Amino acid sequence: MSRPLLFTPTQIGNLKLDNRIVIAPMAQYSAEDGQMNEWHLIHLGQLASSGAGLLTIEATAVTPDGRNTRGDVGLYSDDCESAMARVLRGVRRWSDMPIGIQLNHAGRKASRQKSWEGGAQVPPGQPDGWTTYAPSPLAFTSGETPPTALDRDGLAAIRNAFASAARRASRLGLDFIQILGAHGYLLHEFLSPLSNQRTDEYGGSLENRMRFPLEVFEAVRDAFAHDRPVTMRVSATDWLEGGWSVEDTIAFVDALQARGCAAINVSSGGSSPAQRIPIGPGYQVPLARAVKHATTLPVIAVGLITDFEHAEAILSTGDADLIALARAVLYDPRWPWHAAAHFGIQIKAPKQYLRSQPNRLRNLFV
Ligand SMILES: Cc1cc2nc3c(=O)[nH]c(=O)nc-3n(C[C@H](O)[C@H](O)[C@H](O)COP(=O)(O)O)c2cc1C
Repeated sequence: MSRPLLFTPTQIGNLKLDNRIVIAPMAQYSAEDGQMNEWHLIHLGQLASSGAGLLTIEATAVTPDGRNTRGDVGLYSDDCESAMARVLRGVRRWSDMPIGIQLNHAGRKASRQKSWEGGAQVPPGQPDGWTTYAPSPLAFTSGETPPTALDRDGLAAIRNAFASAARRASRLGLDFIQILGAHGYLLHEFLSPLSNQRTDEYGGSLENRMRFPLEVFEAVRDAFAHDRPVTMRVSATDWLEGGWSVEDTIAFVDALQARGCAAINVSSGGSSPAQRIPIGPGYQVPLARAVKHATTLPVIAVGLITDFEHAEAILSTGDADLIALARAVLYDPRWPWHAAAHFGIQIKAPKQYLRSQPNRLRNLFV
């Protein structure tokens, strides 16, 4: 039997991966003043012992007001950088899994309660609430305090903040950056006509709506270590008439590729509470397939991929080059071990855990 594609090595830019299982970014809402702490060491530590090919640190804010919640991790100060350095030192001492970071500005979806508090907006003026910024002064949902539209200085400041966070990520030795251009956060707000109604060169035509996200990409690409990849996560559709579409996404991916983007992670939605997402196993895979058909960049599929054979089928049919897991690997951080056992494949594991393997499998090695 040939080796399953899931466990075939691959590459994103110069970054070599042992297998095609990617751990998607997952916000933990547990940072203090943007600084990681022991929770992040526990959380990232266990995921870095999972045998996956790649680990992505959660959405990390490039400015304090770009945090989705007061518990978001940030990379906007020396204190944030040294807190992250402490966590990474701990994780890296015991794992050689490549680790990247997702950089974000939450735009009009900033200043919210943590997910387990309900996720509602915390309006400016309330404790832990602050003014939010976006392309246009349009609230995400009715009854919310609308964001302030960004002017030229505001745009320049955010571009610089992305670049500065990328320089910090370089210094931290992170292996790649994923820019969050999805889920209704700032960059997606520029892309989608649902949230961008500007009349200057950053709004209107597709070319104009792509301008700011592309400027941010260029600033990050320029600031990050030149031998390490910068990638983008997109929402390939808003799931709404008149919103951002798969065709728009393909044009965006082409423009990103021309600027040196190394891979595309295909997610969806987040622009509007009116969206209706047909949720089911692999519900975003058709979007990944459409992007994959249109680009030579590595494409990462994500969204309710939980079954080993399904994961393998997504790769073997050519719908995507890698698969990403969020909830499934949070629930079962040994998902890659179990997938390897299912396919009769050997997988790297910490030496401290070697004795755990059932006799009938014996598929772990150091
Ligand atoms: C706890 C949790 C936190 C998440 N945080 C982020 C995040 O920081 N950035 C992001 O782009 N997506 C985030 N997501 C979305 C996931 O990365 C993923 O795209 C989504 O959950 C679908 O994949 P799944 O079905 O494997 O969970 C989060 C999802 C979960 C469950």
